[in-house]
Amino acid sequence: MRDSLRRTYDAQLGGLVVDVPQGELRTSVAADAPALDLGALFGREAPVVVEIGCGPGDSLVPMARARPDVDVLAFEVYEPAVAALVSRLVREDVRNVRVAPVDAVGGLTRLIGEGALSEVWTFFPDPWPKAKHHKRRLVDATFADLVASRLAPGGRWRLATDWEGYADQMRAVLDAHPAFVTEPEDRGDRPVTRFERRGTAEGRAIADLVHRRA
Ligand SMILES: C[S@@+](CC[C@H](N)C(=O)[O-])C[C@H]1O[C@@H](n2cnc3c(N)ncnc32)[C@H](O)[C@@H]1O
Repeated sequence: MRDSLRRTYDAQLGGLVVDVPQGELRTSVAADAPALDLGALFGREAPVVVEIGCGPGDSLVPMARARPDVDVLAFEVYEPAVAALVSRLVREDVRNVRVAPVDAVGGLTRLIGEGALSEVWTFFPDPWPKAKHHKRRLVDATFADLVASRLAPGGRWRLATDWEGYADQMRAVLDAHPAFVTEPEDRGDRPVTRFERRGTAEGRAIADLVHRRA
């Protein structure tokens, strides 16, 4: 990480970067970590959205800025991306975003209470295109159970991918899941990002899935 990014990251630890009790790995959450007090984290009571794997915030920053009435907590494991996001949040004075530099499964399980979220966003998760790596894909039935438990009734899970096979896997899991109602596919306010542009340039179609918590 560049020195200036490292300084911004360190200065925001406990501020925009949530200081999460660490488990065995740098990106895991300690088993006894208490759930976050989201009101205290954001300094107000407002609907909370979680973004999973926000990268440097190409979707997150414009979407959060356009919706000052909601707070957005991002989970992102790649520290340089977290640092780039934080630097942008400071530069653009975006105040309704916090980032937890931990794995989303541990983060959702340990840091977020049941029914606490109004939305979950998962935009362009790592596609793991080779068949032998499909088991590493984040969105599967077990992960869908976890997301369903953290969403409030009526809350939405928005997902985007440029990999047809992954989109089919998401549809198969979520269309069959008893806790979700499938809504029409819709990109809504999601901006075009680098990942989307690359996918389109390489001839892949973009799928934007929406599933509502029953
Ligand atoms: C392909 S990038 C997409 C980034 C961003 N959503 C976008 O659309 O520009 C996937 C991101 O998810 C992060 N990621 C992968 N697995 C994760 C996990 N289990 N928890 C949190 N972040 C994860 C990666 O580090 C990477 O930044």
